[in-house]
Amino acid sequence: MVGPAMDLLERVAIVTGASSGIGLAVSRMLIAGGARVVLVARGAERLESVAMALGAQATAWALDVGDLEALARLPAEVHARFGRLDIVVNNAGLHHRGDMLRHSPLELAEMVRVNLSAPIVLTRAAAELMSSGGVVVNVASLAGKLGVPGSAVYSGTKAGLRFWGLAAAEDLARRGLRIANVNPGPVDTGFFDADFEHVTDLTFSQPMCSSEQVAAMVMDCVRSQETGLDRDIPYLSGKLSTLGYLSPGLARLLRPALERRGAANKRKFLVRKSGG
Ligand SMILES: NC(=O)c1ccc[n+]([C@@H]2O[C@H](COP(=O)([O-])OP(=O)(O)OC[C@H]3O[C@@H](n4cnc5c(N)ncnc54)[C@H](OP(=O)(O)O)[C@@H]3O)[C@@H](O)[C@H]2O)c1
Repeated sequence: MVGPAMDLLERVAIVTGASSGIGLAVSRMLIAGGARVVLVARGAERLESVAMALGAQATAWALDVGDLEALARLPAEVHARFGRLDIVVNNAGLHHRGDMLRHSPLELAEMVRVNLSAPIVLTRAAAELMSSGGVVVNVASLAGKLGVPGSAVYSGTKAGLRFWGLAAAEDLARRGLRIANVNPGPVDTGFFDADFEHVTDLTFSQPMCSSEQVAAMVMDCVRSQETGLDRDIPYLSGKLSTLGYLSPGLARLLRPALERRGAANKRKFLVRKSGG
């Protein structure tokens, strides 16, 4: 008999952004559940070594999700190779931080392509081929629930991702497929490394999660029988974001105190990262 831990035996999954952080943790948990996982990321070398470490159920598939034509072909290629497709985790993301005027028009458009167009294209192409009972999980952000100044375009893409996911639930349900959003606050990954000085204090005002905590929530969505889930992590930070969205006056009032707390958390994070 198959135990509950191996309930994903025979399932085939695609995870984008799978070579580090949340995507790697999700891939590890899918594999622990018995699934075969196609790991997508751009850097082939890191991807190969991650796939090697994960073992025979992992397949490295080097691809830039911003290459929408190649991405649209991916589900058919995976289906041809493994004979089925059951799970898609839209996790790869891009954040050009700070005032949007710091970035060129095309850099801003690139964020829309990677964070929003790519999940739509991949899901649309996959939906034709996924087995009934299949599921799509989007890794969005709390920044997609409450606009974060200093992350304007990123916030817009993550809000778009969430709303598309919620609205697409009906279309996908007609094919027997489910979709869910997971909306994390700050997560302790390499996502901040490229441009730490432009991470907003507001971002750090919320408790930081681990990749594993976010991945566990993604797995709950994979295993749930429900569609249209929109899960926040941490839960209370999600509630605070909703309150701020519904009451912009209250959000303005709370912002200075949250930014003070965030600045202090950011200093502690830096000390911890530098081994202090
Ligand atoms: N960390 C946070 O605080 C946080 C909070 C809320 C939401 N999120 C969201 O969580 C998701 C994962 O972030 P993370 O924190 O786990 O980041 P991470 O540790 O930096 O990992 C990002 C992964 O995505 C891959 N990737 C990046 N751009 C790609 C592209 N164009 N095509 C294919 N793969 C790509 C990276 O590999 P390559 O560079 O080799 O391509 C890597 O495997 C993102 O969507 C992010 O917006 C993160």
